[in-house]
Amino acid sequence: MSQEISLNTRIIELGRSIFDGIGSERPSALSRNFWISKIMQWSMANADFKTNLFRLVDVLPTLKSNRAIVSHLNEYLRTPARGINQGLGWAVSPSSSSLRGAVTALAVKRGIHEFASLFIAGENPSSALGALRRVRADGLCFTIDLLGEFCLSEGEAEEYLARYIEAIEVLCHRVPAWKESQPILAGHPGEQHPVCLSVKLTALYSQCGPLNFERSVAVLSERLSEIARAARRGNALIYVDAEDAANNPIIFETFMRVFGSPEFRDFPYPGIVVQAYFKNAEASIRSLLKLADTRGAPIALRLVKGAYWDYEQVVSQQNGTTFPLFTKKESSDASFEHLSRLLIDQHELCLPAIASHNIRSLSHACIYAESKGVTPAEFELQMLYGMAEPIARTFARRGYLVRLYVPLGDMFVGMGYFVRRLLENTSNESFLRHTFFDAKAISELLKEPQLHEETSPYVP
Ligand code: FAD
Ligand code: 2OP
Repeated sequence: MSQEISLNTRIIELGRSIFDGIGSERPSALSRNFWISKIMQWSMANADFKTNLFRLVDVLPTLKSNRAIVSHLNEYLRTPARGINQGLGWAVSPSSSSLRGAVTALAVKRGIHEFASLFIAGENPSSALGALRRVRADGLCFTIDLLGEFCLSEGEAEEYLARYIEAIEVLCHRVPAWKESQPILAGHPGEQHPVCLSVKLTALYSQCGPLNFERSVAVLSERLSEIARAARRGNALIYVDAEDAANNPIIFETFMRVFGSPEFRDFPYPGIVVQAYFKNAEASIRSLLKLADTRGAPIALRLVKGAYWDYEQVVSQQNGTTFPLFTKKESSDASFEHLSRLLIDQHELCLPAIASHNIRSLSHACIYAESKGVTPAEFELQMLYGMAEPIARTFARRGYLVRLYVPLGDMFVGMGYFVRRLLENTSNESFLRHTFFDAKAISELLKEPQLHEETSPYVP
């Protein structure tokens, strides 16, 4: 008990020192551009404005004319904007055929594009080389993601696969030659591979789905193997992202089949993601650790809380199925801490990648590792590009390896990703919102989270 108390005290001390290190710096989405930070503030202050803004963002890439943009702007935002102030209500409701309408439509397109570019580093690997080099110059590593998920045709899936292979070739040719690619933390296994990729498997097969389980796993295994072969040629690392509850079993089975196969037994640290908001997340981790044990070589395990909570709730209500996730945010935080300890205890079987922007969640992992004699070269922290740069840089300055997840691609395919980031920044439960917008007390932000809900018993 006294050891537990002292551990918690040390977590709070590290957390406080990270807050001190951040000082008055703020993440891009809340600081870089006056209008963007204003829109974020209105979204946080007015739920109706936020919902309708997200509806507009979602539909925007499909609107082909200025007239259509202005008419959607009027329909979605006029009333909630008036609720904020009359002037704003007037500004978002020009007539669709007027000159003011054309100018407004242009400004909306530009604005959303600029907004999305806070979270998306470039359209393709070549155009993002500058941004990636700046990430390394900041003392951070990266994993790139080519935006795309749930593709609609086999043509799209094949194009996505080809883009991944091309991205690996471009990056593996250019990145290792940079002076910034010198190891940031000597002895860390990730640093032998300056290029790292994250892949969303649902973008690789148009018929992917639980009703087509076997075929989905077979096709995705072939396509993931092609990516893994290209990565091996270029000395790159791979993470397979976790997605929604319906597709995750397909993703897990594909990962196990590919990286448990004789061809890829020696692939270095193949990575997979587990979402702590699932009540059965521990069972998933234990099966993955078993895989690492059987293949005789460690895997990388990225622990996240999960980005699809709102989506899963809608799906579960529509289907009338039991909700498989925790329903209280604090339970997900507590589960994240429990699972961080499990990964750190098993660091010989896995490289723990603790992915969060929550200073309490991150400090907990760092202090627990220290208490177990696990060094910073044996795990890493991960954060999303554009979400929490001041936090990333502060942990990096303290000697931890921090990897940024950097999405590349165009806004049309990236809309789902962009909306998830907006939700995370503006949610009533968001750590980033409480820190940078609500200025909640640091003692509250660093409080030890409690599990409020039953978890499924683990069945080996
Ligand atoms: P916090 O504000 O501390 O936590 C927010 C999270 O709490 C929400 O995202 C949700 O998971 C949970 N939550 C919110 N409300 C409730 C509630 N009522 N009940 C229960 N839980 C709730 N996500 C994926 O799904 N798949 C991925 O592959 C993936 N890759 C990532 C890679 C990196 C490098 C990072 C940093 C994140 C990734 N994410 C991924 C996103 C991640 O799941 C979280 O959405 C995001 O990091 C926010 O969590 P947080 O700890 O930073 O913030
Ligand atoms: C998402 O796409 C980062 O994988 C996470 O939201």
